[in-house]
Amino acid sequence: MVPAPSSPALTPALLTAIAERFGTPTWVYDLDAMDAAACALEAAFDGAPHLVAYAVKANSAGPLLKRFAARGLGADVVSGVELALALATGISPEKIVFSGVAKTNDEIDRALLAGDRGILALQAESAEELHRIAARATTLGRIARVAIRINPELASIDTHQGIATGHDDAKFGVPVSDLAPAYAALAAPSLAFQGLSVHAGSQLLSTGDYLDAARILLQTAKDCPRRSELRFLDSGGGFGIDYGDQEPVPPARFVAETRALCKEFGFGDLPLHIEPGRVLVAPYGHLLTRVVQRKEVNAGGGKRRWLMIDAGMNDLVRPAMYQARHRVTPVAGVDSLKNCIDFRVVGPICESSDDFGFHRLPEDLPDGALVLLRDGGAYGYPMASRYNGRGFAAEVFVTGGTVGAAKEREPEQAFLDDRLRF
Ligand code: LLP
Repeated sequence: MVPAPSSPALTPALLTAIAERFGTPTWVYDLDAMDAAACALEAAFDGAPHLVAYAVKANSAGPLLKRFAARGLGADVVSGVELALALATGISPEKIVFSGVAKTNDEIDRALLAGDRGILALQAESAEELHRIAARATTLGRIARVAIRINPELASIDTHQGIATGHDDAKFGVPVSDLAPAYAALAAPSLAFQGLSVHAGSQLLSTGDYLDAARILLQTAKDCPRRSELRFLDSGGGFGIDYGDQEPVPPARFVAETRALCKEFGFGDLPLHIEPGRVLVAPYGHLLTRVVQRKEVNAGGGKRRWLMIDAGMNDLVRPAMYQARHRVTPVAGVDSLKNCIDFRVVGPICESSDDFGFHRLPEDLPDGALVLLRDGGAYGYPMASRYNGRGFAAEVFVTGGTVGAAKEREPEQAFLDDRLRF
């Protein structure tokens, strides 16, 4: 018997019970495993001053944010709504940084008005934004704590081009070769400069590009005309995970090597911030879905075999958007790989790109069988849509071996109401 590989807490019996109670597709998250990943990353700092600012965009579910808040994590938010979520789930404004290239005045105001003195840092991505933050702070009678997100202008970044951010034609950050206008903007009396940040890209499997970006961050800090004002450096997120055939460097090693670099540059005592999203949640969340039916035809000089499931690109868009591969695993396990054949697993959406790729699955997998689309704990639900009139899937957090917090599938009526609301 080849076991169904997923989080050990997510047993076939539990998954089957969840499918019966909540229907399919349903997101199932192993909250304790996410918590353990967060603790391990905290421990990687060995007590040195730091902030793990969880990138809320990866998975913004309340129960998860509350657990991370209780663990002392901070948050990297990219919208006013994410800021409100972080605050509502107990993350202190002193641990919140706000990234994003197009923060609106309203979002800036919300950041400045959080808590007694606003959030820890608005991470500005342009000189123009710094001017706008300064003006808002003046209007509100606040001092805005700001950082500058640099763009390290890396020549290449070893990841999918849709999630690379640290190259010079990306919209993100202030290019290191053109920092003067941003530094000049810091002269505004309503701004308090706090630090520098960088984010090279996402799903980085080795430390090379991350450290290249960190080295540029550190050199920039060393050359910074306001070096003495620095309160932190932020080397960003991007730690990759194994989606099936990758061998990512563990996140603790990213941290250890970045810390070593900080010491080398003389910044060993300055708090180091990181902004991990995916690595803390992706491997511990899966989309529980059912086989609707198979379709077999003779075409193109051979047999074509599709396995249609009841989850689509509206639930998990990563394969359609980034050609990402998520493993597909029968919940009941696989008796023998000998009896497996290749199926092209597809969803119900009327788009050719609603395609999860070829997967080796039991030849006799029956209609109605439960399968997991794996490792979707990050950028799964948050990127979902209601395309084709499909409501948002249910979400279930498993904790202590049983169903903890859970939320039903969005009722069909919600879609009807929205479309008929005019
Ligand atoms: N910090 C900043 C400034 C970011 O832009 C991001 C991700 C993160 C932190 C967190 O990166 P992570 O540790 O999760 O790699 N939707 C894509 C990923 C987009 C990432 C956007 N920025 C995907 O599904 O792969």
